[in-house]
Amino acid sequence: MVKVSPSIIAGDQGRLADEVRAIDEAGADLVHLDVMDGHFAPNITLGPGIIKDLRGVTKLPFDCHLMISEPWKYIDEFVKAGADQISIHLETPRVAETLGLIREAGKAPGVAINPDTPAADITDIMGRIDFIVVMTVHPGFYGQSFLRDALDKVPVLRDIAAARGLTPEIQVDGGVDAGNVGAIEEAGATQVVAGSAVFKSGDYATAIRSLQAGARRAD
Ligand code: DX5
Ligand code: ZN
Repeated sequence: MVKVSPSIIAGDQGRLADEVRAIDEAGADLVHLDVMDGHFAPNITLGPGIIKDLRGVTKLPFDCHLMISEPWKYIDEFVKAGADQISIHLETPRVAETLGLIREAGKAPGVAINPDTPAADITDIMGRIDFIVVMTVHPGFYGQSFLRDALDKVPVLRDIAAARGLTPEIQVDGGVDAGNVGAIEEAGATQVVAGSAVFKSGDYATAIRSLQAGARRAD
């Protein structure tokens, strides 16, 4: 069973509170909040104010994915807004320091790696993180096609962690759907992000259940 973290940027942006309530009722495990600053990623999305107001509508853990160039400046804001796990990008500066800020605040630190970033680049900070986000699209937009080659990094990351006695959660983010979730789970991922596969389906509960079933899907 993989945990499913629906990405609300694929929902109706004018009705975000309703969308969060809907995925909660539909059985989501986490809420994925894609934060983009128009600089690290070529899009502008949610900020801490929106996340703070959404915090009131669900008890599900908030999974904040920061696609911003200077994350260390904003950790405190996202913590106060109600984030439970926060991923920053390995391609940004001051990674170890920023992970430390997340840890000191009592939240789960994670690192996301872009499709072109080698798995081995994570080695030095492996001991500082609770989860890894393997990007299977380039940051920016929901609805992009799944980049299959990036999935090969999942078992490599597992091995790098295992060699240090660590078992971080591994989240796969981008282009996940019912057709590839089996391969994603078999590669060793424990969480998947799903934007379009949930919000562009007609039935959130069926879509979430189908993704949670992962490699054990009937069809
Ligand atoms: C991409 C985001 C993803 C995206 C997922 O920059 O990090 O979380 O919204 O959406 P889908 O599942 O549609 O690729
Ligand atoms: Zn994301």
